[in-house]
Amino acid sequence: MRKIRLGVNIDHVATVRNARGGADPDPVRAALLAIEAGADSITLHLREDRRHIRDDDLQRLRKVLQAPINLEMAATPEMLEIALATRPHAVCLVPERRAEVTTEGGLDAAGQQSALQPFITRLTQAGIRVSLFIDPEEAQVRAAAQLGAAVVELHTGSYAAASGQAREAEWKRLHDAAGATARHGLECHAGHGLNFENVSQVAAIGQVAELNIGHFLVGEALFIGLTASIEEMRRQIATGAQIAVKRP
Ligand code: PXP
Repeated sequence: MRKIRLGVNIDHVATVRNARGGADPDPVRAALLAIEAGADSITLHLREDRRHIRDDDLQRLRKVLQAPINLEMAATPEMLEIALATRPHAVCLVPERRAEVTTEGGLDAAGQQSALQPFITRLTQAGIRVSLFIDPEEAQVRAAAQLGAAVVELHTGSYAAASGQAREAEWKRLHDAAGATARHGLECHAGHGLNFENVSQVAAIGQVAELNIGHFLVGEALFIGLTASIEEMRRQIATGAQIAVKRP
């Protein structure tokens, strides 16, 4: 049976904590609970402005978590230094603009090859698995492979935001880009905007090995609890993973 890994993103536990400036709710506690509930790894985004996750969260998580950590970060010298000192299992390079509410588009791997190359090389040499968060386009997949990344994470935001025929078209883009990852020898991850209703179609794409999901899971935890929220997401992913998708 095909099993897709689930990475739980804990950023928005930190968002709630930071709204009051104290210590609660603790994103590290949420990470430990998420693993107990069936998550395979923990994802966190240390942003330049530290609007949710802070340096200390990453350090504490690194000390107590046995499961893999996937650190999302911008390709900047400051973040590279932090990653090399912390040695997470994986780093996912993402584009970052201070004014954006969330990561709005994928990394332009094709247009920024020379700027990205030193980051990918240094991280890979340090034994960290490098992933690039890209829009679902073959040119970006090809560029990621040329840069020596091990993984690409396909941005599912446009798919998640669309409805009707537009969603079908966005799904097809994801499907085709996922096909390209296999041809280019890359592992395929996906994430952004996924929820109970839209995740199974993404899980039904045969090449997808891992999904990274945060905002919806943390929001849903308010109503049903984090454990139940993760368990239901796992069920939806498993349902999708069993669908053999034979679309043109
Ligand atoms: N993957 C990446 C690379 C992201 O930047 C994000 C958002 O931080 C996610 C996955 C998770 O998106 P969401 O919080 O919408 O589930």
